[in-house]
Amino acid sequence: MAKVLYAATASLDGYIAGPGGDMSWLTEHVGGANPTAERLLAEVGALLVGNRTFGGDDPNRGTDKEGAFGGQYQGPVFVLTHRPPAEAPAGVTFVGDLHSAVAQAKEAAGDRYVNVLGANVAKQCIEAGLLDEVLMFFAPVLLGDGVRMFDHPGGTRVRLAQLPGETAHWYRVVRSAS
Ligand SMILES: NC(=O)c1ccc[n+]([C@@H]2O[C@H](COP(=O)([O-])OP(=O)(O)OC[C@H]3O[C@@H](n4cnc5c(N)ncnc54)[C@H](OP(=O)(O)O)[C@@H]3O)[C@@H](O)[C@H]2O)c1
Repeated sequence: MAKVLYAATASLDGYIAGPGGDMSWLTEHVGGANPTAERLLAEVGALLVGNRTFGGDDPNRGTDKEGAFGGQYQGPVFVLTHRPPAEAPAGVTFVGDLHSAVAQAKEAAGDRYVNVLGANVAKQCIEAGLLDEVLMFFAPVLLGDGVRMFDHPGGTRVRLAQLPGETAHWYRVVRSAS
């Protein structure tokens, strides 16, 4: 059964995008090999993507590194949107409902991960009890404003437990019954 994972690279102050969705900092401040990301790539069976991420800034646009995992991900993509285009690009399915999108992505992923891309969709997955794991990479930069990796006005508490033997900042979401 597929697990649903929210994986992203954040600035040290916890933003996954800068103001206006700016992602230029990612290429400026993240470089070199990332063995965990490379290992994860092989374990991802589907992407669940928010439409702001899908249509958002990609500093690698127009290069062979465009897209998820620096252009290396090849597989099914499920995009959550209330405004699907008339025609979907190959491999992309537009879905208008969170539970249906998660179910379709899990089915497509088989026994691998559904990787959630987008803080808004990840937050909804967390709050619906649909998220299993969180993996954050941190870039050595402070952005000061932008899209927080998790945003809940008024505050909340989502308990996370480090996965034993795993890389830093790879957590299981602790549900009240688990
Ligand atoms: N640093 C990283 O590793 C990383 C990774 C991924 C993304 N990013 C960046 O982070 C930002 C993420 O933006 P975000 O978190 O604000 O948005 P998001 O999660 O990417 O997308 C939100 C959009 O998805 C659609 N949506 C969400 N829930 C829905 C639902 N239940 N049913 C139907 N449609 C739904 C809506 O689009 P419609 O208006 O079309 O309905 C909504 O505006 C982007 O700038 C992206 O480039 C960074």
